[in-house]
Amino acid sequence: MTPTKIVLDCDPGIDDALAIALAHGSPEVEIAGITTVGGNVALERTTGNALRLREFLGMTGVPVTAGSAGALLRPRVDAAEVHGESGLGAARLPDPVLPVAGGHAVDFLVDTLAAEPGEITLVAIGPLTNVALAVRKEPRIVHWAKDVVILGGAYTRGNLTPAAEFNIGADPEAASIVFDAGWTVTMIGLDSARHAQARAAIVDEMRAMGRLGRDLLVPSVEFYGLATAADGPAIYDACAIAHVIDPTLHTLVPARVDVETAGRFTAGMTVTDFAPKGAANALVATELDVPRFWDLVLAVYRDLADRLG
Ligand code: BDR
Ligand code: CA
Repeated sequence: MTPTKIVLDCDPGIDDALAIALAHGSPEVEIAGITTVGGNVALERTTGNALRLREFLGMTGVPVTAGSAGALLRPRVDAAEVHGESGLGAARLPDPVLPVAGGHAVDFLVDTLAAEPGEITLVAIGPLTNVALAVRKEPRIVHWAKDVVILGGAYTRGNLTPAAEFNIGADPEAASIVFDAGWTVTMIGLDSARHAQARAAIVDEMRAMGRLGRDLLVPSVEFYGLATAADGPAIYDACAIAHVIDPTLHTLVPARVDVETAGRFTAGMTVTDFAPKGAANALVATELDVPRFWDLVLAVYRDLADRLG
């Protein structure tokens, strides 16, 4: 089967790192490029982490391009208390040797989607600043992207605030632009992704995965668990990649999603109407088949671990 070509906009980030490993390890995905955004930690760190991961995972042919340092209109928020000062928890990957690509992420996104209209899926697993700017710079990307998949949003409860999920709450204006752009956004949000918990038995499987397990998966996930959930942290971002690999893992329901940008207490809320009067602008994940998710993710990690030694 021909792999799905993606561009991955991210803010690594522990679960971003796990998503990158999943995308690179899967024969069903081809990464055309990685773009970075300030989010979990500052842009210099998310970019440095993407470069570290590229070398550690042996994907040196994939360009990494840096993008926006902060939100369109608001002060930057981060999640360093969850992802660690470095952004990768307790994982200590060697400093990168190869440089970041020249140019800006927004141009990379536009140019890459323009080069192969209808062929490339845009996957965004950080704040949506770069994607919103790309939409503003070249609105035709909405038609050029084969699909747009985000990890973000929540129709039940947020994690940045009770109303807002982190990636949306970090830049609500950008998220609003993305949802209103005229494409159908596949929204993999907290409601389903919070079930993708790496419980103890999963981490034990990761321990047996050589260098990949020892140097990346286990130290990052254990750190993430201490900071978030004692019974196992949800590796949210990997859900977006898992959806690209196997679209049947999630239950997706058409909905109209509007992003709250004015609320004092609700900014960044993804107000989700499953019975809209007008047209839907999103497919919202309501459930994840957790056993099949982990079967897929662990199988890909095992193969990648074998290749990495
Ligand atoms: C999202 O927020 C970030 O902290 C994670 O990397 C993920 O993209 C989950 O709310
Ligand atoms: Ca992320």
